[in-house]
Amino acid sequence: MRHILAVGGGKGGSGKSFISGNMGILLAARGKRTLLIDVDLGGANLHTMIGISYPRVSLSDFISKDVESLDDIVIPTAVPNLFLISGAQNSLDIANLHYQQKMRLLKAIPKLSFEYIILDLGAGTSFNTIDFFMVSNYCLFVTTPEPTSIENVYRLIRAIYLRKIKYVLNEDDFKAFLDGFLDRHKGIKLDFLADLLSMLHRKDPEKAMIMKQTLQSLNFKLIVNQHRKQDRPDLGQLMATLARKHLALKMDFWGNVSFDDRVHTAICSKVPFIQKYPYTRTATDLREICDSIMLLAEQTEEFQYAQQELQFE
Ligand SMILES: Nc1ncnc2c1ncn2[C@@H]1O[C@H](COP(=O)(O)OP(=O)(O)OP(=O)(O)O)[C@@H](O)[C@H]1O
Ligand SMILES: [Mg+2]
Repeated sequence: MRHILAVGGGKGGSGKSFISGNMGILLAARGKRTLLIDVDLGGANLHTMIGISYPRVSLSDFISKDVESLDDIVIPTAVPNLFLISGAQNSLDIANLHYQQKMRLLKAIPKLSFEYIILDLGAGTSFNTIDFFMVSNYCLFVTTPEPTSIENVYRLIRAIYLRKIKYVLNEDDFKAFLDGFLDRHKGIKLDFLADLLSMLHRKDPEKAMIMKQTLQSLNFKLIVNQHRKQDRPDLGQLMATLARKHLALKMDFWGNVSFDDRVHTAICSKVPFIQKYPYTRTATDLREICDSIMLLAEQTEEFQYAQQELQFE
């Protein structure tokens, strides 16, 4: 069984790498052969989060074709069962990442043989970020309780949706229809999808049904990180309910991860937080999220990688 989990969130600094690194350690500690991949193209730092100073090889070697296979750049970590593909160290490689190079990477990821593969994504909604959601079976969004971060998660969800929709509606007349629609919906209003589906239904009920099913197959999970005592405890629940209602998608809230000043201390000392401070509220929160990942994985069939899904540009 192979489970690919993409960890994203629209805003930089929300804690994607912190969550990814610590989830990797927890899954590995539970005996799961786990691979972390740093696909934050341009801002790779996941290695530091798990205490590796200088990765010997990285995605740069794959992108520049110095190695043939992603297996050649997998490095072991100090944690048994945990492996890492470090992010590109040479930002020039990434700045010039061509479509073919990205496709080569996207096609190679699902072929890797690990029980869990965690993709630590960069911030933002560029194709170089959101296309990694297309090869994942679960999308885990990390937000902070701040409105700016929440807004960016919705923006990201919308971008992922539109990417899927463009793929489903790949005939010229439907592309024209979608472009016209998007001109009228430039903001991040929540009800845009319901509106789109009803317009599409009037035009072609069969296509509208296929699209609804495709969108509902996306498996979204949400974490509120850096949660402080004064923040609403039910914020994530509220966001998930709104997303389900207005975007007609499956989204579950997986819990709050408490803010702790010692996260900073752990990162500065290059010791993973979960190892340095295992008896803290934040560590307990992280373990609960790991439980949710494993439970979901048990309930899910192995991800069937469809080659044709990758023809989305
Ligand atoms: N639960 C937490 N409690 C306290 N501080 C935290 C917590 N989570 C993350 N941080 C702080 O936020 C910083 C940013 O975290 P991280 O690097 O994981 O964010 P990111 O979303 O990966 O950012 P980027 O988009 O730049 O890659 C960390 O260096 C840490 O200091
Ligand atoms: Mg990061």
